[in-house]
Order: sequence, then C-alpha cells, then structure tokens
Amino acid sequence: MAKELLKVTDVYKSFGGLTAVNGVSFSIYEGETVGLMGPNGAGKTTLINLISGTLPVDSGKIEFAGTDITNLPPWKRCKLGLARTYQIPRPFPGLLTSANIVVGALCGKDMTERSLMDASAEAMHYLEIVGLFHKRNVKAEELSLYELRLLELARALATTPKLILLDEVVAGLNPAEADEAVKLIERIKDYFGVTVLWIEHVMAVLMKAASRVIVLHYGQKIAEGSPQEVARNPQVIEAYLGEEVNV
Ligand SMILES: Nc1ncnc2c1ncn2[C@@H]1O[C@H](COP(=O)(O)OP(=O)(O)OP(=O)(O)O)[C@@H](O)[C@H]1O
Ligand SMILES: [Mg+2]
Repeated sequence: MAKELLKVTDVYKSFGGLTAVNGVSFSIYEGETVGLMGPNGAGKTTLINLISGTLPVDSGKIEFAGTDITNLPPWKRCKLGLARTYQIPRPFPGLLTSANIVVGALCGKDMTERSLMDASAEAMHYLEIVGLFHKRNVKAEELSLYELRLLELARALATTPKLILLDEVVAGLNPAEADEAVKLIERIKDYFGVTVLWIEHVMAVLMKAASRVIVLHYGQKIAEGSPQEVARNPQVIEAYLGEEVNV
C-alpha cells in the first residue's frame, strides 16, 4: 500500500455568506495522479488555496507527509515538498523567464543548501524539460499563455516537490498545445515520480491521466472513485447538467 502523502480532514472555508469549501475530506497517496473536478464555482481553486496555504482554513486539518501543515505559511509548505500552479498564471512578470525558475529553485530548499549558481544551473535544466529553454532570456510578461503554463510547471518542479497541485493546465490552450501539455505532465510524472492533484474541466484529460477522481459541487465532495465510476455517477451527471462535459 502506497504511503499517505496528503490528508485533508473536514475542511471548511467561507467568503462572507458563501461556503466555498464545505466539510471536505480526502487523502492522496504517493505516486497517484488524482483529478479534481466540479462545475464552475464548485470550490476547486479554493481547496488548492487551502492546501497550499494561499488562504487559511476556517476549520479542519491538513496534513502533508506526516506533518500538520494546517497553520503553516505557504513557504514552509513549499519546503516540505508542496508546489502548485495557478489557474491564471502568476509569473514574476518583469523578471526573465530563467529568473522565474531560479526563484522556485531557491525557495524549495534551505538557502544554505543551494547557491545562486546551483539554482541557476538547475533552472536551465527545468527550462529544458518543459521546452522553454529558448525563452530563458525573455521577460515573463512577453510569454504566451501556453508558455506561461510551462513556466509555472518549471517553477513548481524547481522546488523539488513531492506533490504538485495543478489548477487547470489545458484551459484556454488550443488542441495541439493542450495535447502537448498533457504529455509533458505524464513525462514529468515518470521522470520525477511526483504525485499530482490535478484540477481540469476536460473530463477526457482526467479519464486518461488520473487514477482517481474527486468531484466537488457547491463546496462538497459528491463523488470519489476511478474516472469510469465517477463518469457513471448520477450525482455527477446531475451536477454537470447544462454544462459542457467531455466524458
Ligand atoms: N477570495 C475570494 N473572495 C470571495 N469569494 C471567493 C474567493 N475565492 C473564491 N470565491 C468564491 O468561492 C466559490 C468557489 O470558487 P472557486 O474559485 O474555488 O471555484 P472553482 O471550482 O475553482 O471554479 P472554476 O472552475 O470557475 O475555476 C465561488 O463562488 C467564488 O466566487
Ligand atoms: Mg478554479
């Protein structure tokens, strides 16, 4: 049995009167690719924000690699091996693409473990892996959406994570780019052995890539299981009625 890497227990988060995450519990085991689905506004990004520490929980517990991280700041979670990408890319726009990745390399471990020169060399390695090496000397603000998604992946990888939280990788990409992005994530998984929690609206992507899928609806977990089980689940079908779902 694989080791439990992430354990989310009865987590709540409200914004004013709106409960965006409403008593969610689940675990992720080492080596898994877990898909996180749900209609717009279901609470997927909020849940990622709670796990990464971008937002504090109202209540509940989050454990990562055996440590209670519920109240740790994001940078401490990062050093424990938790990395994320953003639904709307958040580069350091005025910095060169390479420098964006150096930031990741410097943040992932104690500064004493990594010199700036080491971090720069590592950044080049990650830029090559994601196919962005040729853009290393371009400012991040000049990159296309696809290139920004690659930048976010490289920056996350540079922190040497155990778990990557991906918030919509293929949204807004053309079919060829989307295909490339999915293949890249599969290569990254094989190469680094990293565990992935992956939000995506396109069910076809998760049907192929995920070993397990969790479905949120109005902040609650309404289904969890293999992609096939979840796609057949009446509650899931109901939740997606009126939405375009590529099952
Ligand atoms: N910082 C915030 N302040 C106020 N409301 C918020 C905030 N973040 C999210 N919300 C609200 O919480 C709910 C869940 O939003 P969230 O972004 O988590 O949904 P999502 O499942 O990621 O949706 P999408 O598929 O559109 O990205 C929404 O109603 C949203 O408007
Ligand atoms: Mg979202």
